[in-house]
Amino acid sequence: MTTPDLRLVPALPEHVDIWMAMREEPASRRLMPLEPSTRESLLKRIQEATSDLSDPKATSFRWMVELDGHIIGTIAARELSRFQGRVEIGYMLSSAYHGRGFGTRAVAMALEQLFQWPFLHRVWLTTAADNLASQGLARRLGFTLEGAMREHYFIDGQRKDQQVWGLLRSEWEARGRER
Ligand SMILES: CC(C)(COP(=O)(O)OP(=O)(O)OC[C@H]1O[C@@H](n2cnc3c(N)ncnc32)[C@H](O)[C@@H]1OP(=O)(O)O)[C@@H](O)C(=O)NCCC(=O)NCCS
Repeated sequence: MTTPDLRLVPALPEHVDIWMAMREEPASRRLMPLEPSTRESLLKRIQEATSDLSDPKATSFRWMVELDGHIIGTIAARELSRFQGRVEIGYMLSSAYHGRGFGTRAVAMALEQLFQWPFLHRVWLTTAADNLASQGLARRLGFTLEGAMREHYFIDGQRKDQQVWGLLRSEWEARGRER
């Protein structure tokens, strides 16, 4: 049995339809606070982001997750503050690929790249209180649950608590030493 080839590739305009389809999947709609978006607005978001971490002006980054040559997900890092040393991440896989460790592996690859920035002190993410897979991923990668904003999310017609998770550079590096 060969190991699946999982990699991050730059998000390109040609990926817009696959990203749009992933956002429309029932699991995404049930678990993420996705606001209705047009194809044009998603295209704009892809064009405004980069995967080039050496771009000194960029604050928004996006990769697609590729498994054995097929796009199965996307990872974003946004609102980078070089001054504060922090960035927020978000991630989504197509539901056919959930629960097989691909999300954890792909986000670990993104973190590995992000922490190459010497100024980066902290990565944070938010998730709905009922999104156990996202929480499992965060915990597995060493994030700490830092708090909750009550009923901050409106998802699929329901109010839900939004959890905030954070990972400090020291925690990421300690995890690397343990591996
Ligand atoms: C969140 C997401 C990226 C996680 O990726 P994944 O590949 O499905 O998750 P993994 O297989 O890597 O599992 C991560 C951890 O969560 C656990 N987990 C996975 N699915 C779970 C579920 N449905 N319920 C409880 N735990 C779950 C796993 O056991 C694993 O923990 P462990 O390593 O301690 O065993 C993916 O499920 C997804 O895209 N979901 C829909 C979109 C979404 O919710 N995005 C995040 C918004 S914050």
